Amino acid sequence: MAYGEGFGKVILFGEHFVVSGNHAIVCGINSKTTAIVEAIEGENYELVDKRPETPGYKQEKFEQQKESLQYIFKAMQINPKETPIRITLTGDLLAASGVGASAASCAAIARALNEHFKKGLNNDQINEVAFQGELGYHGKPSGIDNTAATFGGLLWYQRGNPPTFEKMKSAGPVEIVMGNTGVVGDTKKLVLGVQERKEKEPAKYNPLFEEAEQIALKAKEAFANGNIEELGTLMNRNHELLQEIGVSHPKLEELIAIARENGAIGAKMTGGGGGGYMIALTPGAALQEKVAKAMQEKGFTTVQTTVG
Ligand code: PMV
Repeated sequence: MAYGEGFGKVILFGEHFVVSGNHAIVCGINSKTTAIVEAIEGENYELVDKRPETPGYKQEKFEQQKESLQYIFKAMQINPKETPIRITLTGDLLAASGVGASAASCAAIARALNEHFKKGLNNDQINEVAFQGELGYHGKPSGIDNTAATFGGLLWYQRGNPPTFEKMKSAGPVEIVMGNTGVVGDTKKLVLGVQERKEKEPAKYNPLFEEAEQIALKAKEAFANGNIEELGTLMNRNHELLQEIGVSHPKLEELIAIARENGAIGAKMTGGGGGGYMIALTPGAALQEKVAKAMQEKGFTTVQTTVG
């Protein structure tokens, strides 16, 4: 039996803008997806998906998941028709939009296949396979999710061939609350929609992309200096830009309002949007608890973690 793991992630700054070459800031979270690969008698592969989920997520992503597996097998030159396997997915990362669930599963599967078939891939090669797997879920992935899923930590990321990323300086961990809308977002559609609108309306979109780059640069500095107030202000502005490019959702807005009313220093959606998760910057355990409770009282589920 072979095991592999992939981290969940939270994009702190620059989702969507990163697809067009902007910088983004991403942080691995403690929750993970685990893949187990074992040999079976049979004719092909079996997938047993035991991950906890936002209701409807796995059903909605089922076809994309099958496509993703084909990309992974191809990238690793594995033919399960010749060597049948069972892949079992487990772990404490909720299968939901906005936490990098698809990328975490791709990295976990790549690692478990690597061990089972003794391919000897290093982390960079695992990351490349996970990127190929992401092609099944996203039309045009930036590669940020699979990089965070493979390496974890706080990363300064830019798309490219190859992508460039570095571990960021941080003055110390800060508490956040992740609020789950419970709505499954279609990242593929949302990403392509933004790209199409950007093509059609450059006068509106180009300045928004330029401002997003400035925000990411300032946020990098604020992390290094431990300037939490500045990070909160930048998060709020980043969210306005995401609203303007059309990827927010009424449930995200509701959660963001709850966070701000309860004292969060800043709040924004995270990931593809159209549902999924938002994040609130809540330094200190007491504020974190207060904001999470306020969200839970309105029926939302939350994750309390730290970044940086
Ligand atoms: O929805 P998620 O968690 O898969 O995040 C997608 C992030 C985007 O920037 C919208 C797309 C990408 O590939 O970078």
